[in-house]
Amino acid sequence: MIGIFDSGFGGLTVFKEIRKVLPDYSYIYLGDNLRAPYGGRSQASIYKFTQRAVDFLFKQGCQLVIIACNTASAEALRKLQQNWLKEHYPDRRILGVIRPLVEAAALLSRFGRIGVVGTTATVSSGAYIKELQRHKSGVEIFQNACPLLVPLVEEGWLDKPETRMIIKRCLRPLKDRQIDTLILGCTHYSLLKKEFVRLAGKRVQVVDAPRVIAEKLADYLERHPEINAKIEKRKTVRYLTTDDPQKFAALGSRFLGALMTAEKIEL
Ligand code: DGL
Repeated sequence: MIGIFDSGFGGLTVFKEIRKVLPDYSYIYLGDNLRAPYGGRSQASIYKFTQRAVDFLFKQGCQLVIIACNTASAEALRKLQQNWLKEHYPDRRILGVIRPLVEAAALLSRFGRIGVVGTTATVSSGAYIKELQRHKSGVEIFQNACPLLVPLVEEGWLDKPETRMIIKRCLRPLKDRQIDTLILGCTHYSLLKKEFVRLAGKRVQVVDAPRVIAEKLADYLERHPEINAKIEKRKTVRYLTTDDPQKFAALGSRFLGALMTAEKIEL
């Protein structure tokens, strides 16, 4: 099985694409809705919550866990990979979303001026900056946190003028720096991609985050046949949440674009 972890609903935007690209695999999606949103929390808390969730997914039999949440990828992934994983599950793998998005942005960018928008925790972690600098020298990165967009998306305010105004404000400092490429570094922002594209303007290319993550995962599995061989492929999906499963299924269906049922688990 492949585990997909997110702080809540947002990772469903990523999972939707993963399933399109890799339809044969068995999946468990886990949303930690009880503790979401992660975006305003401390690094220590995000690390603790993420570690517990990944541990749970490994115990369910996942060989590979994708941390679909940008905030958890930014604040917990490296530490998990470097210390915890080696000690507890040396034969399993954890992947995040930052590296694939950085690679895609670096390829798209013509003038090396990349903008990143995300939650407060993602931006203050500097994870995108570090990864971009590791990946390609000479790129300039400009970031801005847009914490208000997560609750607006969860309220379904996708087409409201208030949401547009906030996107505009969020993009202004990045446009002032003449970015040519934009990373939507938060799961929820994918649902606002059309507005981001429009408001960023013709000169800015917006990375299609869910698609990129799904394609990079397919590429990873191809390059690692030893891991791929161990993953069950029965086209099954289980949706798990740490909060109310009915609420998860109702709102989650909007993120996923399909009906679903969910089960409650304790972490
Ligand atoms: N999933 C989070 C992310 O991609 C957004 C929601 C949250 O703050 O938990 O950063």
